[in-house]
Amino acid sequence: MAKVAQALNPAIFGREPTHLFIFGKTGSGKTLTARLVSERLQNEAARESVEVNTAVIDCGEQNTEASVIKTLASQINDPNKSGMTIPERGLSTGDYYNRLWQVLDTCSDVTIVILDEIDMLRDDEVLRKLSRAGENQKIVDSRLGIVGISNKIDYPEELTERVKSSFSHDELVFPSYDANQLREILENRRDAFKPGVLTDDVIPLASALAAQEHGDARKAIDILRNAGRIARKEGSEQVTDEHVRAAKEKSEADRFSELIEGTATQSKAVLYSLVLRTGGRKTAEITTNKIYRQYLEVADELDLDQLSERRVQELLQELDFLNVIQSEVRGRGRGQGVHGTHRLLEDPDIVKRVLLRDSRISTLE
Ligand SMILES: Nc1ncnc2c1ncn2[C@@H]1O[C@H](COP(=O)(O)OP(=O)(O)O)[C@@H](O)[C@H]1O
Ligand SMILES: [Mg+2]
Repeated sequence: MAKVAQALNPAIFGREPTHLFIFGKTGSGKTLTARLVSERLQNEAARESVEVNTAVIDCGEQNTEASVIKTLASQINDPNKSGMTIPERGLSTGDYYNRLWQVLDTCSDVTIVILDEIDMLRDDEVLRKLSRAGENQKIVDSRLGIVGISNKIDYPEELTERVKSSFSHDELVFPSYDANQLREILENRRDAFKPGVLTDDVIPLASALAAQEHGDARKAIDILRNAGRIARKEGSEQVTDEHVRAAKEKSEADRFSELIEGTATQSKAVLYSLVLRTGGRKTAEITTNKIYRQYLEVADELDLDQLSERRVQELLQELDFLNVIQSEVRGRGRGQGVHGTHRLLEDPDIVKRVLLRDSRISTLE
């Protein structure tokens, strides 16, 4: 938080903030911190009669140059000051840029542009243009600071090659929360429950479980909330560690279910075959060939067409791409197909439970 503030602080006095990139796993507080810091900045600057405005752009949704520019311009625009509107459509990208520069100069002294999930941007041209706006005199009466946020820990490398030459910036890596920090975060949400409803172990256990699972604050909060829901559904007066464990399983299953939502039955059959081969061990690494032999049985039981080993290998690759499993490809002997080993990234029991939600697969039980 302090480091983010440090980079942006010049804005309080109307000077150009340092461009900043924040990296860290999901749920490590990146978006929250960026928002809080810019909000505080806005207030402090107002005391110095400096107008700071912040735009938050979700690059997962706005992933093209034109849509980023348009969204940015409309978030900052105050028609009373700029005398301009930002139409939804109809302008060329160049015209949107021109309006943006005018909007920035007439509506703000300093604009902070938060580009969240920046790795989803299809094209970094917009990054280059924004970062050089001052230098190229596109904006003359105002300053611009960019905060790029990414969940990809290894994004700095990808990024540096692409844009390092283009502009200077600071980089911050947000570590994932540990159990103690998660505990504090959850303690602050205790007031969502009536006094005495949470038994003593609930928050420590929920934090510990979430810390094991990558230290994602969002997950910790979900677990606590779901534990409450489960307790209420059972008509229990109190939330206990049993409820927390059930909530953790549920939140994992839900997340996993989202991940494989829309996956074809054949893929699910392949995944089910992998689950069967693991013998209940999450870390077990299974060869394509073993999975394939299991798959032939599963497909038979399900009355599915039996796909070729090569096709099954392709489906495994897709599952790997979706982060459902992790595959290691050994060699690509010509004409021999691709050989590799595959392992689950989620508890076999949970994967199985989610797969059995599929009406077709459920006949295997
Ligand atoms: N230090 C914190 N104190 C309280 N809540 C937090 C904290 N860090 C994260 N959270 C909450 O956890 C969730 C995930 O945080 P977020 O900033 O969206 O993570 P990220 O952007 O890194 O994925 C949000 O609901 C946020 O409010
Ligand atoms: Mg975020």
